[in-house]
Amino acid sequence: MIRSQIASYFREKYSDSFITIKAPGRINLIGEHTDYNLGYVLPASIEKAIYFAVGSNKSNDINIETFLTSPEKINFKLNGKHHPYAAFWGNYFKAILEILSKRKYPLKGFDCVFGGDIPIGAGLSSSAALCCGFIYALSTVLEKEIPKEEIALIAQEAEHRIGLNCGLMDQYAVLFGKKANALFLDCKNLSHKYVPINLEGYNWVLINSNIKHNLAVDSEYNKRRSSCEAVVREIAKIKENVFSLRDVTEDDLYKIQSKVSILDLKRANYVIQENDRVLKMITLLDKGDAQSVGKVLREGHWAMSKDFEITTKELDCLVSIGMELDSVMGSRMMGGGFGGCTINLIKTDAVDECVAAVLSGYYKETGITAEAYDLQIGDGVCILD
Ligand code: GLA
Repeated sequence: MIRSQIASYFREKYSDSFITIKAPGRINLIGEHTDYNLGYVLPASIEKAIYFAVGSNKSNDINIETFLTSPEKINFKLNGKHHPYAAFWGNYFKAILEILSKRKYPLKGFDCVFGGDIPIGAGLSSSAALCCGFIYALSTVLEKEIPKEEIALIAQEAEHRIGLNCGLMDQYAVLFGKKANALFLDCKNLSHKYVPINLEGYNWVLINSNIKHNLAVDSEYNKRRSSCEAVVREIAKIKENVFSLRDVTEDDLYKIQSKVSILDLKRANYVIQENDRVLKMITLLDKGDAQSVGKVLREGHWAMSKDFEITTKELDCLVSIGMELDSVMGSRMMGGGFGGCTINLIKTDAVDECVAAVLSGYYKETGITAEAYDLQIGDGVCILD
């Protein structure tokens, strides 16, 4: 629907000659705030996506229009100076165009219309889809291949310029995702492999708390990163070859107890344990052990709630309600934190009743209407026919 709307708008307004790019959102099974600590993550790309229709226009103008939230249009002049935009997406594209110029990519004029169905601020990486999809679209229109690894780095740099010191999990999930699989990414060397995540007799379901986050502005995200880096700096003074929390053990933490705050130690300890949970999750998925997968999800959630302190009372409420239901094997908050969705593993034959129970319990407790999305794992960014 969105895709055909965008295509017909492009045809009407610009030209018949264009290509369409699909850039998906992502979920994450486990491994939260481990990416910038060069640890492990287990995300997957989903069917919800941002679609871009793009065509070159042989001028000095880059015209971009969207139906993402409300209809908006921005015109960039090639090599022009651009001021911050009221439309949040304009600032991402401005950053990307600046980074591409800095990297000496020859830009040329093009038209672009985009829109999608990834809820914004819901922990499903709408911004990584926006950035990676735009760069991919641009590389197609410029007929200049930009390797996916480089697209990920450019998209990450754009996020950093906007103010979120994120890792690379979201960009890799958007770019390298594969239908029915999660992507096991080792953020230390960026090697990755695919892990099938279908558990016979169980469904993965997303529940949106409808508490929106803005991680770049609520810089609690960046504070977590600073805590982790403070711990790494201290340990590097007493141990060789320590460059990130990936090189740190729980024993190392005891040795620097007096040098950093208890809070920073708690944060670092969470990250070390979260890496272990990713490895455990992969083994359990392989065995098809849904019960234990659910347990790891819950452990991960309460560690994020109590030790890393990135959940909200609403997200804790969603997970607590699930814990009362036998057919909900487990659930956890997902993404950067402070709002967004939980991911839930639920027995297939009880999905409807469990979702209804969670939604109504949540409403009773918070007065907020949550939404459930049936989760479909799709492919990463691609050109559509
Ligand atoms: C956000 C960031 C990612 C990652 C997650 C938390 O989505 O963009 O890099 O840190 O939060 O796991």
